[in-house]
Amino acid sequence: MSLTLRYMRLGDIRQVATIDVMCFDPPWSYDSYVFEINESTVSHMVVLEEIIGRAPPEPVRRRSWLDRLRGRGSGSASALDGTGSILGYGGLWKIDDEAHVSTIAIDPSLRGKGYGEILLAGMFGKALQLRARYIVLEVRVSNAVAQSLYRKYGFSRVGRRKNYYRSDNEDAWDMRVSLDRDTRHRFERLYEKLRLQHGFLDTYSRGSHPRG
Ligand SMILES: CC(C)(COP(=O)(O)OP(=O)(O)OC[C@H]1O[C@@H](n2cnc3c(N)ncnc32)[C@H](O)[C@@H]1OP(=O)(O)O)[C@@H](O)C(=O)NCCC(=O)NCCS
Repeated sequence: MSLTLRYMRLGDIRQVATIDVMCFDPPWSYDSYVFEINESTVSHMVVLEEIIGRAPPEPVRRRSWLDRLRGRGSGSASALDGTGSILGYGGLWKIDDEAHVSTIAIDPSLRGKGYGEILLAGMFGKALQLRARYIVLEVRVSNAVAQSLYRKYGFSRVGRRKNYYRSDNEDAWDMRVSLDRDTRHRFERLYEKLRLQHGFLDTYSRGSHPRG
């Protein structure tokens, strides 16, 4: 088994969207992913992939993308497309001095194993590589797990957005971390610890965007 952090590809969207619908309401549309991967000049989408041997090819069937998401047919979040299994994914936008975590999620059955931290660390490293001066994100006020992960990487609350989430009007915390020298050193220690623990390959934060 090997773990890899890498840029998201079009072929990953089906697995990613399967996780997305289990985590967020509303989930991103298929076209949003295509845009972020293929067109956006500020977006850096990432997946955490596990490869166990060689995945069997999927039987050729005519099923719509939505059918697969809804679980009709043989689709699951794992080992489709003849690639590895996507454990989770994230997104980072880099605009001027700011890096913005646009999304992060781990397959619900695989949480609590350090995978979400690997994704966040990957995006943190990417923000540093792109010379961002700070990272921002929004998180539900009720989402204690995600907030704990963000605090571990130095994020703190800087504001509250009333009724930010349209599905249920929950408020969001704005969280932010400045990428100063102390934060970078702390990040490097956390990242090295994670690498020792999980031995993952990182072609995302250490590599360049596939579109150049
Ligand atoms: C947030 C999320 C990505 C974390 O992923 P994960 O793989 O479960 O988390 P990890 O195992 O990597 O844990 C990393 C840190 O998260 C926090 N954490 C994880 N599980 C936790 C729990 N049950 N209770 C409290 N904190 C927890 C801890 O700070 C932990 O660090 P530690 O191990 O040093 O204590 C995951 O819960 C998820 O996908 N949630 C749904 C989508 C979501 O809410 N995304 C955030 C949108 S802002």
